[in-house]
Amino acid sequence: MIKNICCIGAGYVGGPTMAVIANKCPHIKVNVVDLNKQRILDWNDEDLDKLPIYEPGLSTIVSRNRNKNLFFSTDVDKAIQEADAIFISVNTPTKTYGVGKGMAADLKYIELCARQIAKVATSDKIIIEKSTLPVRTAEAISNILKNTGNGVNFQILSNPEFLAEGTAIDDLFNPDRVLIGGEDTIKGREAINKLTEVYANWLPREKILQTNVWSSELSKLTANAFLAQRVSSINAMSELCEHTGADISEVSKAIGTDSRIGSKFLKASVGFGGSCFQKDILNLVYIAKSYGLDAVADYWEQVILMNDHQKRRFASNIVKTLFNTVSGKKIAILGWAFKKDTNDTRESSAIYVADELLNERAELKIYDPKVKESKILNDLNYLNTRSSQDNINLITTLNDPYETCKATHAVAVLTEWDEFKAYDWKKIYDSMLKPAFIFDGRSILNVQVLEKIGFKVYSIGKGN
Ligand code: UDX
Ligand code: ADP
Repeated sequence: MIKNICCIGAGYVGGPTMAVIANKCPHIKVNVVDLNKQRILDWNDEDLDKLPIYEPGLSTIVSRNRNKNLFFSTDVDKAIQEADAIFISVNTPTKTYGVGKGMAADLKYIELCARQIAKVATSDKIIIEKSTLPVRTAEAISNILKNTGNGVNFQILSNPEFLAEGTAIDDLFNPDRVLIGGEDTIKGREAINKLTEVYANWLPREKILQTNVWSSELSKLTANAFLAQRVSSINAMSELCEHTGADISEVSKAIGTDSRIGSKFLKASVGFGGSCFQKDILNLVYIAKSYGLDAVADYWEQVILMNDHQKRRFASNIVKTLFNTVSGKKIAILGWAFKKDTNDTRESSAIYVADELLNERAELKIYDPKVKESKILNDLNYLNTRSSQDNINLITTLNDPYETCKATHAVAVLTEWDEFKAYDWKKIYDSMLKPAFIFDGRSILNVQVLEKIGFKVYSIGKGN
């Protein structure tokens, strides 16, 4: 039986997942470790508003379990030694150098973890891949661990995470399924069963699917590719709607009621973001190419190309509508996170839309209820399009949405935060320069109401 869990990586996956395991399994001690000292300090902060991750419901379960059976620390070696099972939840960004640059997943953090485990482990362990990884990564981890020569037995399992940010706690409490892949050997099956017992503390067994390692790894990439494909498909239709006079929300509703299609993931947007979709599809494309499967690679790559197009056309539409120039004009950006209810900004469409507008020399006033100014600047600096000083000069971040929109030529809504719908839009209109424009990249605002106030409105996927 697993009694002690170590999770390496206290990020968006490791943090919430371990908080839920600790909450549901009071008999298991859970140590979450990270090299990032500040992150661990934040996880341990008395003030729950300082937790490094914003996720509805997370602070409640962290405060309930912290320092009982849930611990956050930087002592990686001690946690590895104590554990029966080690979850690897470190980041696997797209490679920015060398072979596979811009496509393959960078596995350096995973490899470092494997080497660390190999160095300090003195008793048998189950190693669980939690981060999304290319197919056959378990093999690489296994090669590192099994050649240590210190007699320790390691079983490698793949247990991909399907939680979506913003609903992570609900998703973990009540997942559609849990996937556990392992070796088809006596020891492999034993390890799979031990991890199954952990999840069986709160989930019915029929929701826990056992597979071989490669199926589990590939299923995660496939799930994300299918989900992202739905968003790109509906976004492709949104452009057609704008040209034909159809309304994408009506089309979504009409097709979503077909039970074979289903109603989820059919919301047109300014493009999908987040740490997973783009990275996983690029990874899939890279894997397909490496097997010489060019048709497969091209098929999936189109999902990304459509997404890039959607972000770019949204930004160019703003420029075109504002009389073909935004140079020196003030534009308010509402929303920087890649979706509502998270402070995560990785691959957020807002970054790319803002970048295009800044290239056109617009001045941006930015507001997001959960994202700090330093993160916004980091995101823009990371693109390396202009100097960090230029970014500082061209953007202003405010804590108040009304101040953000004041004296601007246009407002662009880039995240679907609920609070945006409840604003006093008449007050905002009165404070803006005229003609006042709204570009709703999430189709969350009521076009008729806004037009009645006097706004000129562009809402994604709505034709005229
Ligand atoms: C995704 C998967 O859903 C999850 O199972 C996996 O573990 C990690 O990747 P996440 O990236 O957290 O989760 O969020 P998700 O809700 O999938 O949204 C991804 C992006 O797609 C967001 O930018 C969102 O705004 C966008 N999206 C989603 C749309 O534009 N329209 C939709 O209908 C749904
Ligand atoms: P994810 O969304 O996959 O959880 P994050 O970037 O939020 O990604 O979290 C990954 C965490 O893993 C980061 O906090 C990072 O500091 C941590 N990390 C990366 N490599 C190691 C390592 N070798 N040992 C401990 N922690 C690590």
